[in-house]
Amino acid sequence: MSSTNDTLRAEVRTAFAAAHPNIALIKYWGKSSDLTHNEPAVSSLSVTLDTLLTETRLTFDPSLSEDVLILNGVVDRKKQGRISFNIDKLRHIAGVSTRCRVETTNNFPTGAGLASSASGFAALVAAGNRALDLHLSGRQQTMLSRSMSGSAARSIHGGFVKIALADSSTADPVYGSAYAEQFATADYWPLEVCVGVVSEEEKSVGSTEGMERSRETSPYYSPWLDGNDKDIVEAEKLVLEKDFEKLADLSEFSCLKMHAMAMASQPGLVYWRGATVEAMHAIRHLRASGIPVFFTIDAGPQIKAICGPGYGDKVASVLSDIPGIQRVIQCGLGGDVRTAE
Ligand code: PMV
Repeated sequence: MSSTNDTLRAEVRTAFAAAHPNIALIKYWGKSSDLTHNEPAVSSLSVTLDTLLTETRLTFDPSLSEDVLILNGVVDRKKQGRISFNIDKLRHIAGVSTRCRVETTNNFPTGAGLASSASGFAALVAAGNRALDLHLSGRQQTMLSRSMSGSAARSIHGGFVKIALADSSTADPVYGSAYAEQFATADYWPLEVCVGVVSEEEKSVGSTEGMERSRETSPYYSPWLDGNDKDIVEAEKLVLEKDFEKLADLSEFSCLKMHAMAMASQPGLVYWRGATVEAMHAIRHLRASGIPVFFTIDAGPQIKAICGPGYGDKVASVLSDIPGIQRVIQCGLGGDVRTAE
């Protein structure tokens, strides 16, 4: 091990990873008391997208005196602290202290409720695993990603993914306990997703701060936690049965519950804009007219329309006509994180 570490310390080590964002159908909002491992207080279930992509190259370089983050071609000092804090976890496992250059690009808006932290941290872990020869299992990669951003665990895998709460008494000191696993592939049920971009601005209250605010102040936080087990079991069953109609009702229920609870925090968290609400009505109108589609919304104003296979074009054209929707990004379901030299 020490000779391996010596080699790691002396050499420039680099690797590339590409990961897709994911969209939760059963939402994660709330952290458990284990803040060190960023353990979630609720289980969640998501679909991984294609089209949207984070591409990241990590270069551990002994000549660097500090970590450098280059986001979409520009040096970003504001986000560098969080990145260094998380690269320290990779360095700790490898037993090295070499500084790292992170070159990362998103082909979609960053930090605007489009899950850029999910794909970003999944790519960081996968690239770090390869660059530093850590030989982490898929499960360990999901756990390490989860410690960086709760939803990132789900972007290690493609298709339909869930994070189940795990027994905290058996938590690993490095990785913690909750992990993500795929329970159906993208091919199993090739749903389509239309993302209606309402604003490309970064959200004013990030998810970590928002979740803590809800835990401390929302009168609906406790009922939100109580309903989670039932929602997860039911959603997995509905995906496996490909029951679109019931999944639509359940997923909208999870989304609206999350936002109701967040809005009732003090001060209230209102992530929607007018166009978000117009799009919700348009999507429900489409569903009432027989088009298989439902909405979900994360910590930002963008609307995500989940469509039955083959209905993406129709839904995209309706969303594009809504005033305030700047553009619509059409996606299918995507695959696992990928790495290369
Ligand atoms: O992983 P975070 O800290 O960005 O939180 C994600 C929270 C939501 O996107 C609102 C819901 C979810 O499950 O993805």
